[in-house]
Amino acid sequence: MTNFPDFHPLTVIRDWGRGQAFRLADALTGVAVFGATGSGKTSGVAKHLALGYLANDFGGLVLCAKKEERYQWERWARDAGREDDLVIVNGAGQARFNFLDWEASRAGEGGGLTINIVALLDELAGAIAGNAGKDENGGENKFFDDALHHLLTNLVDLPIFAGLPVSLPLLRSIVTTAPTSLKELEDPDWQKASACAAIIREAEDKLTTAPSDLRQDLEECKNYWLREFPVLSEKTRSIIVLSFSMLVRPFITRPLRKLFSTDTTVRPEDAFAGKIIIVDLPVQEYRLAGRVANLAWKYCFQVAVLRRMQPQRGYLRPVFLWADEAQNFVSDFDAEYQAVARSAGGCTVYLTQNRESYRRVLGNDDAVDSLLGNLQAKFFCQNSGDTNEWAAKLLGERWVNVTSTSSNRSEQGATGGVSRSEQRRYFVEPSEFTTLKRGGDVNNFLVECIVYKGGHLFEGLPYKLLTFNQRT
Ligand SMILES: Nc1ncnc2c1ncn2[C@@H]1O[C@H](COP(=O)(O)OP(=O)(O)OP(=O)(O)O)[C@@H](O)[C@H]1O
Ligand SMILES: [Mg+2]
Repeated sequence: MTNFPDFHPLTVIRDWGRGQAFRLADALTGVAVFGATGSGKTSGVAKHLALGYLANDFGGLVLCAKKEERYQWERWARDAGREDDLVIVNGAGQARFNFLDWEASRAGEGGGLTINIVALLDELAGAIAGNAGKDENGGENKFFDDALHHLLTNLVDLPIFAGLPVSLPLLRSIVTTAPTSLKELEDPDWQKASACAAIIREAEDKLTTAPSDLRQDLEECKNYWLREFPVLSEKTRSIIVLSFSMLVRPFITRPLRKLFSTDTTVRPEDAFAGKIIIVDLPVQEYRLAGRVANLAWKYCFQVAVLRRMQPQRGYLRPVFLWADEAQNFVSDFDAEYQAVARSAGGCTVYLTQNRESYRRVLGNDDAVDSLLGNLQAKFFCQNSGDTNEWAAKLLGERWVNVTSTSSNRSEQGATGGVSRSEQRRYFVEPSEFTTLKRGGDVNNFLVECIVYKGGHLFEGLPYKLLTFNQRT
């Protein structure tokens, strides 16, 4: 076999025989796997790709929806001789990541830090709210999203003006002590006890001799807290304050506090050196806290990948962003990310049951198409429902000769014969996806899937049938 330099795009990750292969370039353009519950997504396709990625020295981030995810990666890493590269982020607290410090330590001068931190908090808030903002009554939700974004921007700015480190407990204490009426503003007790009032005074002191544009920015921020926030309607204020609390609370209480709000022992960039970071706080067990923990890691990882610099020579080490049951973690940002991540060595692998599971989260078909358009390699395991129609359309049609025999009775008498015609047919009919092998002993532990690689022809066909043995 041809030898390529390290991480060359043509490197074969999995050899599929007869000159066909899954190459590093295919990993870089993203992977989406579909299949019904128990169709063999994990024990067939996921295992096949994961072992290939591990054997080829990829780094990566693994998001966890299920408890078994971590154990499975431990097995796969052992099989590939990579167990030393595993970093397990879990309740034991060995692997800690203070993402706000991390962000602060890498932001340049100026307003970049606020923008980056607000973008992260917006992303988490959006994911917690789910698709609530995207249904037909989206107008009102859009208003609250914007109101929350506006609060976050003014909130994150304040400690930065005062020269204090941005931390979630500090942000929360500003919000909970902000004036809720103009009358309260005048109250000496409030002025004395409020963290919000104190930090505004600190910022003013700090910036007395600062350049005028900075002082103007502080005025804007003060305007928000001292004029706009107190006169917000009760409903608006309570919704955005509640949304903010729901967002930060998991990070500043057990079990996540130690993992996200203390020091840092592991960063997303460690994956660039070959670490495999497993966010073993599965949604199945930790619920909302697990989701926000996984999402915080995911977003920071994505941002880190997008900031990667190209080496002077050679290729970047590929890093995977891996999510089984990916409907727990998808967001609109993923399409944008994967479109650019390819040139930064980012390889997304998302597994889920069907299109509908993404649609429920992303809210509409356009968002799903945009995500899936950026995950070019698609693996279809046994499935039922609309995903099969979509898959059949994706693989396309061809002309086939159809031979039919007929016999007609009419007044002229009986006629009959054989006719031939050309008809358009799917390469793979939707029904064929329903009968693919699902593993287990009834199938002799074989899992079948149909792979599509964004228009690539496999010996003349736009797809290939792959068979995996669950036992090997
Ligand atoms: N190593 C194995 N040996 C034998 N059978 C297995 C093995 N791993 C899984 N199975 C069985 O094979 C079938 C496919 O399992 P798998 O977990 O891969 O499906 P899946 O598509 O990932 O399902 P889910 O949506 O539930 O995660 C299931 O019936 C499962 O019990
Ligand atoms: Mg599975």
